[in-house]
Amino acid sequence: MAASRTFSIIKPDATRRNLTGAINSKIEESGLRIVAQRRIHMSREQAKAFYAVHAERPFYNDLVDFMTSGPVVVQVLEGEKAVTAYRKIMGATNPADAADGTIRKLFAESIEANSVHGSDSDNNAAIEIAHFFKEDDIVG
Ligand code: CMP
Repeated sequence: MAASRTFSIIKPDATRRNLTGAINSKIEESGLRIVAQRRIHMSREQAKAFYAVHAERPFYNDLVDFMTSGPVVVQVLEGEKAVTAYRKIMGATNPADAADGTIRKLFAESIEANSVHGSDSDNNAAIEIAHFFKEDDIVG
């Protein structure tokens, strides 16, 4: 089976608590490969554009505030069925609903400060990767 890609963000609640390495260990233990990675401080414009699909949701402004509150690590992950594989190890959006052993169960503080983002489809993965990486930045 050919490898596919997903897009990941290690969010400000996780970078603040120095959890980048712990989360990357979970990713690598699952068999996914980190084929691009950059630590950035998102501008409001970047965060608003990235989460534009949620612009009408009541939590949108708070989400933009949170995602610009500190550094994040943007990543491209590669592996078999990468979107599904990453969603499985992330766990449910709300850590209260996340399965034992998942990243969000282990590390997330709340539904907003939920430590990681992962794409929900192959199509969105390609769109989200293109927000932050050029093809040359991705080395498999
Ligand atoms: P993420 O996968 O980054 O996509 C959108 C984010 O909105 C989501 O994770 C949550 O962190 C955040 N969020 C905040 N409040 C809510 C909510 N009530 N329902 C869904 N997502 C929420």
